[in-house]
Parts: sequence; structure tokens; C-alpha cells
Amino acid sequence: MFKNIHPITNTISKNDRNVLNKHNSFLVFFTGLSGAGKSTIANNLEELLYKEKIHTYILDGDNVRTGINEDLGFSPEDRSENNRRIGEISKLFIDAGFVVFATFISPYKSDRDRIKQTVKPENFIEIFVNTSLEVCEQRDTKGLYRKARAGEIKNMTGVSAPYEAPENPDIEVSHLNTIDESVNLIYAKIVDKLKLNI
Ligand code: PPS
Repeated sequence: MFKNIHPITNTISKNDRNVLNKHNSFLVFFTGLSGAGKSTIANNLEELLYKEKIHTYILDGDNVRTGINEDLGFSPEDRSENNRRIGEISKLFIDAGFVVFATFISPYKSDRDRIKQTVKPENFIEIFVNTSLEVCEQRDTKGLYRKARAGEIKNMTGVSAPYEAPENPDIEVSHLNTIDESVNLIYAKIVDKLKLNI
């Protein structure tokens, strides 16, 4: 598969970029149902970190799917390929010195495990936004659950497609937490990981 391909190692490394930025780079990976609050929490965290001059970038399901992954749908195979590419993109951003927030449903444990290996386990924080299906469906901000119940959308996660909950996430938050509580919990973990070991 990689025949005749010869990757090069550049002079400036991830570590050099981390020293320049004065912070580590890693992936904060949010998983949970549609409408769980993944994007809202990540956006709040990014605002906080931006004020502290931390270099961040958000990779969001809907955004990535209207660009680089516009060829993918919601079959299990397409979701896996979507997540594989997210892992590879995150790896590049981490190498470039960013704290990456990835907000994806990512319903399969094997896909999340692969992302963790792609970016290396030491660069991976898993956040499970465990908002119940009932609450997500009540919110239904995009009207997707209504359409799914009406049979207008197939493969809707939680309704007609599976969601495998993480067994051992680094942090779990839910609808029982306020947004501020969730943000503060995750922020504390991030701040700790930002510190350079030099
Ligand atoms: S996945 O499973 O990780 O590949 O999904 P992801 O890339 O995160 O895309 C989820 C967003 O796509 C919209 N959408 C659907 N979600 C779930 N199931 C179906 N069938 C579906 N169709 C469209 C929806 O807006 C999801 O965004 P969020 O932010 O999670 O609500």
C-alpha cells in the first residue's frame, strides 16, 4: 500500500512548536449522541483557552462533513471512514502545535480506539457527553429525531443506528451538569495537560 512512498522527517518537530507556543498539543475528543451538547461545550472551552493565548482548533461533525468528508454518509462503513480521517486530521493539527477539539458522535468503540492510537494515547483525552436519548430528543434542535421517527432519516444514531458508550472515558458529563460545570471539569484536565515537561 505504501510502495514507493518515503515519508520525511522535518527539522522542526512537534516539540519545537510546543516550546514556541509554550504549551503542549493534543486531542480533546468529544463523543455522544446528536444534540448531546458536544459542540456547545467545546466552543465554550475554546473561548476560554483563546483568551489565554492557547492555540486551538475545533473539528466538528457537520463542518467536516460539508468539506473534506462530503463524500461520506451515515452507514457504519462511512462513519468509520469519517472517524479514520478525523484521527488523521487531528494528528496533523497536533503535530502543528494545536489543542484540537473534535466533536463527533463517533458511535463505535473500535473507531474511537483507532483515533486514540493514531494520535498516540498520551495525546488523547476522551470526553463522553452522556446526555440521554430522551433529553436529546426533547431538545431536537435540528429536527433530526422527528424526521427519524417519521422514517425520513435512516441510520439515526440512538433511534435506528447504535451508539456504543465509552466504558472508561477520561471525563463524563451529562444533561445533569450545567454547561459551566462541564466546561470547568474539562478545563481543569486540559490546563494540566497543557504544561510542558521541560
Ligand atoms: S459520526 O457517526 O461520528 O460519523 O457522525 P458525525 O460526523 O459526528 O456527524 C453527526 C452530525 O450529522 C448530522 N446527522 C446525523 N447524525 C446521526 N445520525 C444521522 N443519521 C444523521 N444525519 C445527519 C447531525 O447534525 C450530527 O451532528 P451533531 O452535532 O452530533 O448533532
